[in-house]
Amino acid sequence: MVRIRRISIDDPLYAQECALREDVLLSGVGWTMDDYRREMPGREERGEHFVAVVNHPSGPRVVACACLIPPDEDETPRAGKVTQVCVDRQRQGEGIGRQVITTIEARAFGELGLEQLYCHAQSDALAFYERLGWRVTSDEFIEAGIPHRRMTLFEPTAGLRPEA
Ligand SMILES: CC(C)(COP(=O)(O)OP(=O)(O)OC[C@H]1O[C@@H](n2cnc3c(N)ncnc32)[C@H](O)[C@@H]1OP(=O)(O)O)[C@@H](O)C(=O)NCCC(=O)NCCS
Repeated sequence: MVRIRRISIDDPLYAQECALREDVLLSGVGWTMDDYRREMPGREERGEHFVAVVNHPSGPRVVACACLIPPDEDETPRAGKVTQVCVDRQRQGEGIGRQVITTIEARAFGELGLEQLYCHAQSDALAFYERLGWRVTSDEFIEAGIPHRRMTLFEPTAGLRPEA
C-alpha cells in the first residue's frame, strides 16, 4: 500500500526523497542536490515536501515525491508552485504520481486556501498533468536545457471540491 505523507526536511525520509530526486530528475541535467540548493536558495526550507511511502522489510521506502512552494504573502493570485515531481523508475505507471499530485491539490486548495497551482512541466510529462485536469498556459521554454511548458490548475478537481 502506498501512503502519501507531508514531511519536513528534518524527517529521516528526507534523505530518501533527495536520493530519488537525484536519480529520476536531477541526474538528467547533471545536477546533485547540492547544485539544486545552490541554484534555488531557500527553496528546500520554504517548500512543503510530499513523499509516497511503501512498507519494506528494511523500513519505509520513498517511491515518489513532489514539493509545493506556497506564494509570497502579498502575491496575487494566490498560486502555489509544484516542483520536483518524480516517481521511482520501477513504480511509474501505477497511479502513484496521480496520488501525490491530488494530495498536493487537496492541501493547496483546502488548508492553504490557494486559488491556483502551477508547474513547469517537462514537455514529455504534459499528458500526465492534462489527465489530472491541468491546462497548458505558456509556450514552450527551455529550463535546465529541457523543453518545458507552464501548466496551471485553476480549481480543484471535482472530487476535492467541498460541495462535491
Ligand atoms: C511523470 C510522472 C511523475 C508520472 O507519474 P506516474 O506515477 O508514472 O503516473 P500515473 O501512473 O499516476 O499516471 C496518471 C495518468 O497519467 C498518464 N501518464 C503518466 N505519465 C505519462 C506520460 N509521461 N505521458 C502520457 N501520459 C502519462 C497515465 O497513463 C495515467 O493515465 P490514466 O488517467 O489514463 O490512468 C512519472 O512517470 C515520472 O516520475 N517521470 C519521470 C520524471 C518526470 O518526468 N517528472 C515530471 C517532471 S515535470
